Amino acid sequence: MNDRDSRIKSPLREVRTVSIVGTGSYAPERVLTNADLEKMVETTDEWIVTRTGMKERRIARPDEFTSDMAVQAARRAMDQAGIQPTDIDMILVATISPDMVFPNTGCFVQNKLGATKAFCLDVEAACSGFLYGMEVGRQFVASGAINTALIIGAEKLSCITDWQDRGTCVLFGDGAGAVILQARGARHGILSTVLGSDGTLAELLMLPGGGSRNPASEQTVKDRLHYMKMSGREVFKHAVTKMVQAAKDALERCGLTIDDVDCIIPHQANRRIIEAIGQRLGAPLEKYFINIEKYGNMSAASVVVALDEAVQCGHVKKGDIVLMIAFGGGFTWGASVLEWTK
Ligand code: ACO
Repeated sequence: MNDRDSRIKSPLREVRTVSIVGTGSYAPERVLTNADLEKMVETTDEWIVTRTGMKERRIARPDEFTSDMAVQAARRAMDQAGIQPTDIDMILVATISPDMVFPNTGCFVQNKLGATKAFCLDVEAACSGFLYGMEVGRQFVASGAINTALIIGAEKLSCITDWQDRGTCVLFGDGAGAVILQARGARHGILSTVLGSDGTLAELLMLPGGGSRNPASEQTVKDRLHYMKMSGREVFKHAVTKMVQAAKDALERCGLTIDDVDCIIPHQANRRIIEAIGQRLGAPLEKYFINIEKYGNMSAASVVVALDEAVQCGHVKKGDIVLMIAFGGGFTWGASVLEWTK
């Protein structure tokens, strides 16, 4: 080794075990019940409950943006982790309902938190966004490139929901969840993550307006292209298959089986999807943490809000093996296995 080589420090050669050291979540105050929806579109409480398991969802105030909800969740996660905004090296917001097309929502969060040291980005992988974002953050922390990542899933889906379309408007809600990732010398932490995508099926779940393909115009507004479109039945089928396979692959990758798992946190898109996954994975429904009845589908926020609630209510305890699974537009999917180290 010559003199120059011996002076070069390469923190990227390190591989560190990364853990979630704090979680937080936030739900807006306004509750929209199935009874409220009965007055808005031709639907019934009975249809919504039997087809989805949803009873109510939260709706953000007009002056409450995705970044505001993200900040509330982030503050709670920072409290849990015992860190200050200036400790954060990276802010990643997973969302399909950003404050604006740009700047990224992470920059708005940074400004509101005063996290002056952080670099900021958004990740867009629909309902899988949080697991995608967590893996991006984990890689940065594991490599030693940074020490502290704030990973947020936040959505104001009420802004991109077509309130005249009963096939979708009953499904979605607003909210945010956050985690802090650090390498604090835990033995295991995040054990494995599997991510996947299939762009051939993009048209089954999309928001077609507002991008370079269909820039905003009078016509795109008339055609209601600025709202989510979904082929529910097709999405249902793929969601079950892909989440089951991702869960199996993630478990295999870290040498565990479904019997080793103490708590499963699935994306909260439909109670029937969760039950179908339960049957195929061979895990009893008691192992699943389900809060779909309170919040509906909050896309990128669903898994992380459920994780935070599972931790706060003691459903997830120190030493537990937790399996998180998600599926969303793209299509995108992912599964992550971790040992809870808090
Ligand atoms: N109230 C009453 N009737 C309704 C409603 C409603 N809100 N919505 C649809 N219907 C009707 C339909 O018009 C249809 O009527 P028809 O038989 O006369 O044609 C009937 O109910 C059945 O409709 P389906 O769409 O076939 O109902 P299904 O059992 O598939 O349930 C649902 C629909 C809940 C959307 C389901 O398909 C689903 O959950 N799909 C997956 C959603 C998902 O996983 N999304 C994940 C990602 S989201 C993201 O990435 C942003």
